[in-house]
Amino acid sequence: MSKLTRFGVSLDNNLLAKFDSRIKSKNYTNRSEAIRDLIREDLIKKDWQEGKEVAGAITLIYDHHKRELVNKLMGIQHDFGDMIISAQHVHLDHSNCLEIIAVKGSSKKAQQLADTLKSVKGVKHGTLSMTSTGKDI
Ligand code: NI
Repeated sequence: MSKLTRFGVSLDNNLLAKFDSRIKSKNYTNRSEAIRDLIREDLIKKDWQEGKEVAGAITLIYDHHKRELVNKLMGIQHDFGDMIISAQHVHLDHSNCLEIIAVKGSSKKAQQLADTLKSVKGVKHGTLSMTSTGKDI
């Protein structure tokens, strides 16, 4: 772990009260950890915006009975095979499938993969959760 530095922050009382109430509802035990998370969140967002190497998870919900849908989704994933770390398929019920795809690579390419998968006809919902590779935070 790198060396810790303490620093003071001046805040308006009302703003601090709102922040304390907010972090209490999120179960933080102290302000320092909440502020560290806010800083990390901002740095990760910057990495995503600048197209740096990131990690993420794509989730898709779809009806596997739709014609050609599964083949199309597989074809797209093979096209982006160099950035897919793993894919998990869950049969939610008789018709609906949940697919969770873990990715690592350029943020632009991750966004492109998620958008391409979500735009396939028959995909009911898709999300891209963006995070860091953990190296620089
Ligand atoms: Ni299934």
